[in-house]
Amino acid sequence: MLEPPFEKALREALDRYATPFYAYDWGRIQARLMRLREAFPFARLFYALKANPRLRLLERLRALGLGAEAVSLGEVLRAYRAGFGPDQVVWNGPVKTSEALSSLKGRAPLVVLDSEGDLERVARYLPGARVLLRVNPDLPVKTHGHLATGRGESQFGVLPEAVPGLVRAIREGGLAFLGLHLHLGSALAQVEDFLGGYGVLEALHPHVGPVEVLDLGGGFGLDLPLAALREPMERVARLYGAQVWLEPGRYLVAEAGVLVSRVVGLKETRRRYILLDAGMTTLLRPALYGARHPVLPLYPAEGREEALFDLAGPACEAGDILARGVRLPVPREGEALAILEAGAYGSSMALTYLDTPRPLELLWTGEGWEVLRAREPWEGLWEGEEV
Ligand SMILES: Cc1ncc(COP(=O)(O)O)c(C=O)c1O
Repeated sequence: MLEPPFEKALREALDRYATPFYAYDWGRIQARLMRLREAFPFARLFYALKANPRLRLLERLRALGLGAEAVSLGEVLRAYRAGFGPDQVVWNGPVKTSEALSSLKGRAPLVVLDSEGDLERVARYLPGARVLLRVNPDLPVKTHGHLATGRGESQFGVLPEAVPGLVRAIREGGLAFLGLHLHLGSALAQVEDFLGGYGVLEALHPHVGPVEVLDLGGGFGLDLPLAALREPMERVARLYGAQVWLEPGRYLVAEAGVLVSRVVGLKETRRRYILLDAGMTTLLRPALYGARHPVLPLYPAEGREEALFDLAGPACEAGDILARGVRLPVPREGEALAILEAGAYGSSMALTYLDTPRPLELLWTGEGWEVLRAREPWEGLWEGEEV
């Protein structure tokens, strides 16, 4: 599941770095990028920062020609800090506060309008900005409810029936209209969901006319057969005479990342637990939306009895479970295991809840470890507070 050189380096890293820590395999990220580029050679790619926003990772992706996709002022500023220019950053999201809008005056990114109110505010604060309009395709997208942004009841985008009027308003106002935006959700595994979304855009074409850009978002599940999307993507782009933009996050970095955690002890109640030094504060996905992550023991398995375990973290929350019902060789105190497919929405969602420092993050370059972020210092936890 992990590349052998990376796994070997990971075992060695255990002697050098205190757990828990995140570790990423740069080779895997590059391999994933190559797969995306092979499938969609015509598309311009904007990496979704929210999947993992570490500056050195962003610099590396920028050097490979990617743009950045941001959903907050912080992410826009972070992308600028990593060297992306305003025309390389797409700014999404339903909430763009006046603080955010006014602080981007003179350096406006490419803005995705999410509602009529958004249009008014962006026109007021960032006149002349280049904008897209996000379409909510109102489709029953198949993924966890928290991840399905393309359902009609979600707070994202503008329903298809409202699109023609808003496009007219944008074209008549003081903004430069680039085109339409569509993002259906995250971790999508069904080709049909994407085809449904492109179908909605096709149906809108007579009411919108030609545009420069169709931003078709991210959401590519790790096992999604990308080749099946190429032709439909090209067809809708041809119809509009548009360039395709994509915003992959998870697809690029999820599989490349692991969370390494040590066993603090074993325990039995009505279930059998491995107690870990990492939990929901370090990796929130299982508690937030029931995400499942494979688990790899980094200790010897030979001659050990196996058992079914739940992996529990340190929080006083019954929901602080990183995985349930995992069959593992019985570990000993101090031994370590790796939670796999943790490279996306892992460290970026890490919390300081319970005064837990956010963990160390390391990148395996193939030649050595590069520190992407040091573990948060204890004093950092009460910075800005007085006694
Ligand atoms: C607008 C937008 N684009 C792109 C992404 C990236 O999604 P993924 O990481 O599933 O590719 C997201 C994720 O939430 C998003 O909201």
